Amino acid sequence: MVYDLGCSTGTTLINLDPVLPPDVDFVGFDNSDEMVAQCIKNLKDNGVTRKFEIKNSDLNMGVALPNASVVVMCLTLQFIRPLYRERLLQDIYNQMNENGCLILVEKVHGEDSLFNRMFIKYYYDFKRRNNYNDMEIAQKREALENVLIPYKLHENREMILNKGFRYCETFFKWYNFAGIVAIK
Ligand SMILES: C[S@@+](CC[C@H](N)C(=O)[O-])C[C@H]1O[C@@H](n2cnc3c(N)ncnc32)[C@H](O)[C@@H]1O
Repeated sequence: MVYDLGCSTGTTLINLDPVLPPDVDFVGFDNSDEMVAQCIKNLKDNGVTRKFEIKNSDLNMGVALPNASVVVMCLTLQFIRPLYRERLLQDIYNQMNENGCLILVEKVHGEDSLFNRMFIKYYYDFKRRNNYNDMEIAQKREALENVLIPYKLHENREMILNKGFRYCETFFKWYNFAGIVAIK
């Protein structure tokens, strides 16, 4: 079973669908009813025919993950309140199948304040090149203030290893975004 925590509109599951055998089931969780409805629609519209279940669930309250071989959290852990983040990761580790895999993609706080500032600037430049105006960039930043709380890359890594994962590696890093893969 592949779980996508914070599945949003289903982009990750839709992209995984063509590369996984048909007997692998999908489960997606999101705490927004609109996202859950849109995700179900998008999966159907994109021809996902395997068994899938998309449910409303607040990850701050924990999560049930029967038979989890892969758990994906793409830009979601950053929205879980720091108070509950460790508990959620422990919950994932405890329930995951042996040799199960966690794929975590996060916005991260730079290790160094100089590069942190530069990467934020370069990211906004990137958004401008992709037709976001300054007003939109400022509004998004305000909306995410105190809601999206990034950790440093090494803090995420330590948190993962402290929960018991045996292997942990960074597979992606671009400005203040990072992808980590970990094996139970
Ligand atoms: C940036 S989006 C994730 C994008 C998605 N994973 C993807 O790859 O396309 C973050 C998602 O996390 C969900 N989310 C935020 N806090 C949550 C919570 N406490 N429990 C469940 N989902 C949550 C939001 O509703 C949103 O859909």
